[in-house]
Amino acid sequence: MELKVVKASVEKGEGLGWGKSLLVPSIQEILKNDSQSVPERYIQELKDRQLISQNLFDSLQVPVIDFSMLAQKDANEIRKLDLACKEWGFFQIINHGVREEIMVNMKAAMAAFFELPFQEKSKCAKAANEIQGYGQNFVVSEKQKLDWCDMMFLKTFPHETRNFKFWPLTLPGFKEAVEEYSTEIRKVSNKIDANLSVLMGMDENGLKRKLGEFQQGIRMNYYPTCSRPDLVLGISPHSDGSLFTLLLQDDEINGLQIKHKEVWIDAKPIPNSLVVNIGDAIEILSNGMYKSIEHRAISNEKKPRMSIATFVMPGDEVQIGPLDSMVNEKHLPRSYRNIKYIDYIRQKFAMKMQGKAHTAIVKL
Ligand code: OGA
Ligand code: NI
Repeated sequence: MELKVVKASVEKGEGLGWGKSLLVPSIQEILKNDSQSVPERYIQELKDRQLISQNLFDSLQVPVIDFSMLAQKDANEIRKLDLACKEWGFFQIINHGVREEIMVNMKAAMAAFFELPFQEKSKCAKAANEIQGYGQNFVVSEKQKLDWCDMMFLKTFPHETRNFKFWPLTLPGFKEAVEEYSTEIRKVSNKIDANLSVLMGMDENGLKRKLGEFQQGIRMNYYPTCSRPDLVLGISPHSDGSLFTLLLQDDEINGLQIKHKEVWIDAKPIPNSLVVNIGDAIEILSNGMYKSIEHRAISNEKKPRMSIATFVMPGDEVQIGPLDSMVNEKHLPRSYRNIKYIDYIRQKFAMKMQGKAHTAIVKL
């Protein structure tokens, strides 16, 4: 009898959530005992390692978009945004309207969490069958190489998706900082969504009308220093499963790299800016006009690096597929199949981070 109940709920997808990930040790804790250690499980295959030799393409820069110009509907800036989405899948935004104080508070709250004793952090630990909380995701095999990174993933919008059992509620200021930051980022993401709607041939409310209320999740990445950054990766190459992602990165330390025309380019930090990248869901909706681009983070031996990625996503039950405005049977045939967003996300979390392997699954 009991078995049957379990089966019925699994068939309906209940209790399955977004996915699961094997539990792994905290790299930050390993290094507390031996700061020089580079455990075998973190040493990448030769082909996947970063090349330490200087970036040969130092002059290539991720496009910078002045957000205040978009608000004024400046035609030149809108064209720059379109080109950035088409040719890079990445851009940095300045004058986005999020007050510096809110970003500083968010970074401080994250730093305070990662500075807590391991026992305290563990109170927010994710379970193997969850993807929210403190730990690591996308680990699907004991043999898989691990990233040089600990993370904390929290759902933030809609409100009812917040699960406070994973929030360090006793850490002063943490909840307030995340609430304030996620609210401000939502304002920016609404404007990005409105601009992308127009660029994809709809009115400003096009994406909202099609997709309903968006979900938002925040992933805080803590990258400890590494005595051999040439052997490891902070985050393996991947594209994001979101509509788009807004990344708040360290103001000084390089780490994020983008695969642009087959070479890895540094996304050099611009203080107080946000890095925005197109995710798989916009790639699918735009019928491939805007592509989610592979990116990764590298480690360094000098200073720990922190970054805060905010993922903007459709609701779980929403069907995504190429928009009518992006399909033209003659010139722009449909190149992705329709899929329910939660099914897309589940297949994403069922594999390790693996470049563009996920969008390939929905390609026609
Ligand atoms: C991510 C991500 C990059 C970085 O969290 O999805 O790509 O620089 N992070 O931390
Ligand atoms: Ni990413």
